[in-house]
Amino acid sequence: MNFDTRLIPYGRESVRDAAELLEHGELVAIPTETVYGLAADALNENAVKKIFLAKGRPQDNPLIVHISSMKMLSPLVREIPDTAKVLAERFWGGPLTMIFPKSDKIPSVTSGGLDTVAVRMPASEAAREIIRKCGFPLAAPSANLSGKPSPTTARHVFEDMNGRIPLIIDGGECAVGVESTVICFKGDKIHILRPGGITAEMLSQFCEVEVDKAVTAQPEKDERVLSPGMKYKHYSPKADVYVVNAHGKAFEEYCTKRSRYENKLIALGAGVSEHGVFLDYGSTPEIQAQRLFALLRRVDDLGAKTVLVEMPEQSGMGLAVYNRLLRAAGFKIIKMGDSK
Ligand code: TXA
Ligand code: MG
Repeated sequence: MNFDTRLIPYGRESVRDAAELLEHGELVAIPTETVYGLAADALNENAVKKIFLAKGRPQDNPLIVHISSMKMLSPLVREIPDTAKVLAERFWGGPLTMIFPKSDKIPSVTSGGLDTVAVRMPASEAAREIIRKCGFPLAAPSANLSGKPSPTTARHVFEDMNGRIPLIIDGGECAVGVESTVICFKGDKIHILRPGGITAEMLSQFCEVEVDKAVTAQPEKDERVLSPGMKYKHYSPKADVYVVNAHGKAFEEYCTKRSRYENKLIALGAGVSEHGVFLDYGSTPEIQAQRLFALLRRVDDLGAKTVLVEMPEQSGMGLAVYNRLLRAAGFKIIKMGDSK
């Protein structure tokens, strides 16, 4: 793990370089529409092992396998439920990950020892072009060090992966900004394990949808969760993050009061005008999703000790924002009337 990490823009030559490295079992960070991914040949056990090493990721946390066409799906899975076909037709390429029973082609390192595999077809042209050029599926978790906020720019990837991987492809800022929606199938119903760009409301136009309780609740210690990623602390800046259950003026007054006796406090308000300790994290859930991870990195750069975040909406894209914020905050919510 001692590379001169190259960061080059997406283009014909960089796609060729990326494919060549990936064919040789190396790692390449690639842009997607959600967040940057740390890619390896999903079918090459040794290559996939390097992902866990570079990220410092627990080995029981399975990876998402990325494909560029429907043709690539069937060899990877034992069964494709009818609902999956409908959802693929409507939402692929896009930020939707579906969990299937895995075929023997998927090595156990890729699936974290599970007998299922998570698959998604990204919307990002850059990601699809790289997969097409490789001709094999790419396993790719978010390209951050484990526990840090997911990267939404190539610069974020460089901060975390410099020296650990040979190549980062710069495809600009990610359009969605939070990771894909992860679902599994339960008979005719689907179960959302991680909310993302394809919302519960969008999915419920096609089938019955359940949201896993771990999306908004803290799993008990040692509780078995359906998606191993849910049990780890995530997206955390060094600062202590709190979600404040107040809006608008009430939120601003609370933060202003606390900032009088607390040093190094930053408040992220939904659509606030930026002044004093206040930064704007966006007035709609879509903008909040785009900005959230970059802001969580920025508060660290600013040396914040405490970060107070205005409670987001909890429907539509808001559920994805709320889910990531809860994890960044270690589930600490301040209700008005609390002293802290
Ligand atoms: O948007 C995304 O999904 C990004 C980009 C790069 O595609 N990738 C991403 O991967 O977020 P990662 O590894 O950071 O998150 C994958 C999540 C984890 O929570 C993991 O536990 C869950 O998906 N997962 C993967 N395979 C699974 C499986 N077979 N069963 C249950 N959960 C699974
Ligand atoms: Mg991740």
